[in-house]
Amino acid sequence: MEREKLKALLDDMSLQEKIDQMLQLMGVFYQEDMEGILTGPARNMGVGEEDIRLAGSILGTYGAAKLKKLQKEYMEKQPHHIPMLFMMDVIHGMKTIFPMPLAQGATFEPELSEKCAAAAAKEAAVSGLHVTFSPMVDLVRDARWGRVMESNGEDPYLNSRFAKAQVKGFQGEDMGAPYKVCACVKHFAAYGGAEAGREYNTVELCEHTLRDFYLPSYKAGIDAGAGMVMTSFNTLNGIPASTNKWLMREILRGEMGFDGVLISDFSAILETIAHGHSADEADAAKKALEAGVDIDMMTSVYSANLRKLVEEKAVDEALIDEGVMRILELKNRLGLFENPYKDADEEEEKTVILCREHRNLAREAAGKSFVLLKNEGLLPVDTEKKIAFIGPYTNNHEIISSWAITGDASSCITIEAAAEKVFDRERTTFHPGCPVLGPKEVKGLAGFGDAKPVSVPEEEQEKMLAEAVKAAKEADLVIMPLGEHYLQSGEATSRAMIDLPEVQMRLLREVAKVNENIVVVLFNGRPLDLREVSRLAGSVLEVWFPGTEGGAAIVDALTGKVNPSGKLPMSFPYCVGQVPVHYNAYVTGRPDNMGQVRFRSKYIDIPNEPLYPFGYGLSYTQFEISPVRLDGDAVTAKKALTASVTVKNTGERAGTEVVQLYLQDIAASVVRPLKELKGFRKVELKAGEEKEVTFVIDEPMLRFLRADGTVGSEEGDFSLFIGNSSNTDNQAKFRYEA
Ligand code: NOJ
Repeated sequence: MEREKLKALLDDMSLQEKIDQMLQLMGVFYQEDMEGILTGPARNMGVGEEDIRLAGSILGTYGAAKLKKLQKEYMEKQPHHIPMLFMMDVIHGMKTIFPMPLAQGATFEPELSEKCAAAAAKEAAVSGLHVTFSPMVDLVRDARWGRVMESNGEDPYLNSRFAKAQVKGFQGEDMGAPYKVCACVKHFAAYGGAEAGREYNTVELCEHTLRDFYLPSYKAGIDAGAGMVMTSFNTLNGIPASTNKWLMREILRGEMGFDGVLISDFSAILETIAHGHSADEADAAKKALEAGVDIDMMTSVYSANLRKLVEEKAVDEALIDEGVMRILELKNRLGLFENPYKDADEEEEKTVILCREHRNLAREAAGKSFVLLKNEGLLPVDTEKKIAFIGPYTNNHEIISSWAITGDASSCITIEAAAEKVFDRERTTFHPGCPVLGPKEVKGLAGFGDAKPVSVPEEEQEKMLAEAVKAAKEADLVIMPLGEHYLQSGEATSRAMIDLPEVQMRLLREVAKVNENIVVVLFNGRPLDLREVSRLAGSVLEVWFPGTEGGAAIVDALTGKVNPSGKLPMSFPYCVGQVPVHYNAYVTGRPDNMGQVRFRSKYIDIPNEPLYPFGYGLSYTQFEISPVRLDGDAVTAKKALTASVTVKNTGERAGTEVVQLYLQDIAASVVRPLKELKGFRKVELKAGEEKEVTFVIDEPMLRFLRADGTVGSEEGDFSLFIGNSSNTDNQAKFRYEA
């Protein structure tokens, strides 16, 4: 529809009709059989009949037949026959579940994430959905926060590359085209900075940390054309994001140029009262509207208050028009005025969902996301050996994460199912060894509704353990699939202790007493404290929550069919006392490399370095990276510099290395991080093969938020590092001359 027609439509709408476009409800409000997936607190909303009839969008319900019926009925009632928008959290897959986003970060392959997002979009689109609440691009540094699993990690550059790729994957060039959905960049802003890693907690960030580290990935998603942005729950320097006019009007819309729809997170406008920022609902509605929030998700704050506020002249109706126009424009971009059902198709649901092509992609992505943390020669395994698989993830379908809310664990390939096809049946045994959680952890998950795990009686646990220890004794090699329960990460799952559940540690200790050849296969939504695990195991393979094809991909990696190439997108702390820990920190005035001097920046009981740093990950082969070669000694505003290295596979099998470029600005008006990732390349090399890898360093790469508040570069010396993890010291120096 042309813009003038949209404008005419808006002009013809009643105030109430407009306000209802700004209301988002769950499908259950419409049809009794439409029970949706609740992703926030269920409140008695007190929305009126009329609002329910006319609300402009719903969340949490999918299915072509259901949504087509709903759309038809809605449009018949809607005075201007405006179609409704259907939204859902399709985070890392719709039915075919790809590895969780942090795992996707570990692939260092944004192009692959783009393909996963495109496949997810296709499954979502045929299921009738128009918008996905994804990608979540929050920068994360604190492993205690459960939602780190939903992010691509701790680095602004890496996250920006993934933000862009995912938006492109979901939306393509034109979100109205077949099989595309609108992407929603979230959570604006700085939700990942929650104090002490506690969910929904306060965020305090100085402007330069906010701008240099936290904002770039949102900007990348917006520049990629994301049609929607979601506000975050947190306060930012004292003001809740959802009523933060400076953040939304000046930064998001002004500086970043975002002109799409801004939706609140689930009840986030209402929660500004609990935060102590809005006095009551009317005040919250006024503040959020003035901040430019277009849709109120799952509360009646807008629908019950805006009309009165306009009538009392407390808010300007023009602000409502502005918001509704953006909503209509989004519906228009999706082509809903011409085809309100878009791609919803019951027949295609049958052929597209979980199709072989998507499953193959899920297997490839999972394989590429695994990070080999330690390997004392036990991997890849010789399938002819006598092997015991021992651990609660041996035959466990629940490997899709708690944010795969549309996925079905029953569609997952377990390790046992995949291993049975490849390992010698006579010589391989499978044992759970213990439940995923002991009673203590089960208690901690109280209030998780139907999904709540149950504990196994003590007697049965002892039996499981005894059987496992016996099998371990008799085996040449023990493979132990261990990990967090899927409900221990995701929203509202902050943990103060980031260890494996005690019941699994006991199993590992008992097995280690009788067999020293242990490979741990680790499932987790966040970096864990792995000190003891890595002491007891000869090899550790990080597999995250790998998704639908997880078991198959794990067997590929265990047997060497796939050579691990993933790199950590987030530091694995030495222990929780070090958190938040991230590679791109500042040096301090008393760095730790001063020798045995007492007064320096260090802990007296643990190292400063994380156990496994950002960018780290081993392979079954070895790579050598040559010293850095530069084709000059200075970058200028007009002249870039080329840095190159030769990467050689010195081992005996083919493999892929992720070559990483980091810069350090040695002295600046504002102190700069020890290292900042500025580029990476994935290089596939056959045994013995070598390749040259080059990076171009230009002036824009050197920019940052300077002390005078402007963004730009500053003259001076720089260090440049090229290596295969953030702790590389393979460096060269250059100058920047303006
Ligand atoms: C709350 C979460 O914070 C957000 O990420 C999600 O999109 C909404 N609920 C809707 O489910």
